[in-house]
Amino acid sequence: MERPVKSIHGEWTSRWAFILAATGSAVGLGNIWKFPYITGENGGGAFVIVYLACIAIIGIPLMMSEILIGRRGRQNPINTLATIAKEENRSPHWRWLGAMGVLTGFLILSYYSVIAGQAMAYVPRAFAGVFEGVTADGAISIHKAIVSDPERLLAWHTLFMLMTMAVVVRGVQKGLEKSVRIIMPLLFIILLMLVAYGFNTGAPFHQSVDFLFATDFSKLTHTGVLTAMGHAFFTLSLGMGAIMVYGSYLPQKTSILKVSVTIALMDTTVALLAGLAIFPLVFANGLEPGAGPSLIFETLPIAFGHMAGGQWFGGFFFMLLVFAAWSSGISLVEPIVVWLVEIRDITRLRATVYAGSIIWLLGLLTIFSFNIGMTWTLFGMTMFELLDYLTANIMLPLGGLLIAIFAGWTMKRSSTVDELGMGDGWLYSVWRTLARYITPFAIVIIFANLIGVLN
Ligand code: TRP
Repeated sequence: MERPVKSIHGEWTSRWAFILAATGSAVGLGNIWKFPYITGENGGGAFVIVYLACIAIIGIPLMMSEILIGRRGRQNPINTLATIAKEENRSPHWRWLGAMGVLTGFLILSYYSVIAGQAMAYVPRAFAGVFEGVTADGAISIHKAIVSDPERLLAWHTLFMLMTMAVVVRGVQKGLEKSVRIIMPLLFIILLMLVAYGFNTGAPFHQSVDFLFATDFSKLTHTGVLTAMGHAFFTLSLGMGAIMVYGSYLPQKTSILKVSVTIALMDTTVALLAGLAIFPLVFANGLEPGAGPSLIFETLPIAFGHMAGGQWFGGFFFMLLVFAAWSSGISLVEPIVVWLVEIRDITRLRATVYAGSIIWLLGLLTIFSFNIGMTWTLFGMTMFELLDYLTANIMLPLGGLLIAIFAGWTMKRSSTVDELGMGDGWLYSVWRTLARYITPFAIVIIFANLIGVLN
C-alpha cells in the first residue's frame, strides 16, 4: 500500500476551513445537551475539573495525534492505520483500531440523531410561542409529550438523518465550511444572552458558579471520573477517527498544534457557557440538577418563555443547536462513508445510503428507550443509556488509548517530527511525552480505577 500524497476526497481550502469543520464536529449536543446534564448528575465542580484536565492533558495531545495520523495516511481510518503501520514495519492489525472507530461512529450517531431530533421538535414549538410563560412543570410535560411518542421521535430522527446524509453525499468540504462560519458565531451570541439572563437571576447565578467551579471531590465517584474523561473524548470528537478523516483533508503545511489548541478552546468555552446558561434556571426554578438527559429540554424553555422576544430567541436557539448537531453528525458518518467508498469502490451516494439506513434503523433502540422500551434494560441501563455508556465511556477512551500508542510508540520519532512540522524542540518533546506516557497512563488508571483494580 502506497501512501497517497492527497486524499482522493479532496482537501480543505485553507487552515480556517479545517478549523471550522473540526469545530463544527466538536461543538454539538455534547457541549449544550450532554455537558450540563452529566455535570448535574455528577455533582458539579470536581467533575468539571477532571473534565477540563482531561481536555488539556489527554484531549489536545490526542487531537494532534489523530490529525497527524490522518494527514500522513490520507485515507479512511482503517487503511490509514494499515498504511502507516506498514511503512513503519509494524503489524497490519492496527487496521482493527480503525474498524472499531467506524463501528463507534455507527453507534454514536444512532442515538445522537434521536436527541438532535428532540431539539428539532422544539424549533416550531418555540417559534409558535408554546413556551410563553411556561412553568417548570409545564416545560417537563412538553418534553414528556414529545419523547413518549415513538412516531414523533421517529419522524424527527428520520429528518435529521436525511439532512446529515444530504451533506455527506456531496462531500463535507463543500457545504460545511460556509455554514459553520455563520452558525458558530450566532450560537455563541445566543448562549451569551442566555448566560446574561441567568446572571439576572441573582442568587441562583452565584449558586451555579459555585456548583460548576467549587471543587468538592467527595461528590465524585469512580464512574464520575470515567464519565468526565469519556466526555472529553466525546466533546472533542476524538477516539474514533472522525478528526483523523478530517485531518486527511488537511493541507501539508498547516500547524497541527495551533489548530488543535484553537478547537479545544472554542469547544470548552461553549460547554462552560452552556453550563452557566442552564444551571441558574435549574436553581431558580427548584429543578433537580441530576435530572438527566432531559435537563436542557426542561430548563431552557422557562428562560425563553419569560424573556422579551423569547419566542424568536428560543426558536433560533434550537435551530442553531440543530445546526451544531448537524455539523457533528456529519463527522460521525464521514469515516464510514469514506471507508465504504475506498474499500468497496462504490459511489458516495450509495455508501451514504447504506450507512445512513443502518444508523437510522439502530436509532429505533434509542427511540424506544424513552417510551415503549423504557423497561428494556441491560446492566441496569436502557438501550440509550447503554449505547451512550459503551461508546463514550469505553470505546472512545479505548480508541484514544490505542491512537496515542500508535502515534507515540508505533510511529518512529522521525515520522512524527516530520508530520507535526513544529521542529524537534521542547514543544515537540512535550507532545511526545504526553502521547507516549501521560495519555495512555491516565486512561489506563481511570479504567483500572473503575473496575476496582486499585482498591
Ligand atoms: N463532538 C460532538 C459533540 O460534542 C459529537 C461528535 C461528533 C463525536 N463527532 C464525533 C463524538 C466523533 C465522538 C466521536 O456533540
